[in-house]
Amino acid sequence: MSDSKLRVLSGIRASGKLHIGNYYGAIKGMLELQQDDAYETFYMVADAHGITTPYEIEKIKAEKLDVILDYLAAGLDPEKSTVFIQSMVPAHYELSYFFSSVITVARMQHLPTFKEKVKQYPENATMALLNYPVLMAADILIYHASRVPVGQDQEPHLEVAREISRKFNALYGTNFPEPTVFRTKGSYVPSLTGEGKMSKSVEGSYISLRDDLETIKSVLAKVPTDSGKGEILPESGSVANLLTFVDLFMGEQAYKHYADLYTGAGIRYSDLKAELAGAIFAELQPFQQKRAELVANPTYVNKVIVEGAAKATEVANATVDDVRSRIGMGYTF
Ligand code: TYM
Repeated sequence: MSDSKLRVLSGIRASGKLHIGNYYGAIKGMLELQQDDAYETFYMVADAHGITTPYEIEKIKAEKLDVILDYLAAGLDPEKSTVFIQSMVPAHYELSYFFSSVITVARMQHLPTFKEKVKQYPENATMALLNYPVLMAADILIYHASRVPVGQDQEPHLEVAREISRKFNALYGTNFPEPTVFRTKGSYVPSLTGEGKMSKSVEGSYISLRDDLETIKSVLAKVPTDSGKGEILPESGSVANLLTFVDLFMGEQAYKHYADLYTGAGIRYSDLKAELAGAIFAELQPFQQKRAELVANPTYVNKVIVEGAAKATEVANATVDDVRSRIGMGYTF
């Protein structure tokens, strides 16, 4: 570890299968920064964030392992990045508690993500849910991370982390950075339904990283289309979104080809969907193969998890020890 390197942290909740929105919005950015020598990268599974909404114990146990497997299969390399499970580094909770003393309830209640979840789970507007962004700030700042590869939807949470960082530094003389989002080309992957973003909680909106060709074809088959022709290219809705996927998976040239067809001879959506399904599957296939190999090698995966937690704990504990003494907690003889 070197002090001159900038730190990076990111995480994905342990809930459900990862989809291509997670891949483009977060994992691609994680991979890019892992490859860059200027950065020291920490990537975690946010299982503790998974209990901020109703959950099942056995499911969360399986799903956190799924995210670790997805991370490794996508190319996160434990030789280069510290890959770990959030709840195995309990210092995050302690820092989160200290942070909660510098941010108001009103500020948390106004966050769009909080409002959405309260609407979704009206009976479960818990303190953990309200505290979600504060724990996220602790996840990031405990490693003094200044870059955070996440999708566009996480920007309001990063704003909270910057606010907490500023307040804490001003009050206690700490040197937390003000973390910023590291954006990828796919920082907002739209939903296949044509409305909003791709999300694991909306059936039909996503393609999972583990889908086979037939599943991808059948998900794409359900995407609503139009006559395939028009004077101007639609800027929103499911046709616009299909073209975004063409751009992401088949490149700019293919995008231009289909865009020209739309305003010219017309798109045959059966062709577009077949080509797109093939391109998506081609990108996912090496990932799926690598994942199957990892599933067959639990000894290796367990070693990654144990070593990742140990490395993360060392850094995280040093931060919390310092904070504790600065803010007058603990006891000095
Ligand atoms: P989560 O699990 O909701 O999402 C994981 C990552 O995937 C991105 N993402 C998308 N990007 C583009 N288009 C989409 N349709 C799309 N859907 C999801 C999200 O932006 C995110 O980057 N709060 C985080 C987990 C977390 C975290 C952290 C992240 C906990 N602590 C500390 C960074 C740093 C979350 O909800 O992830």
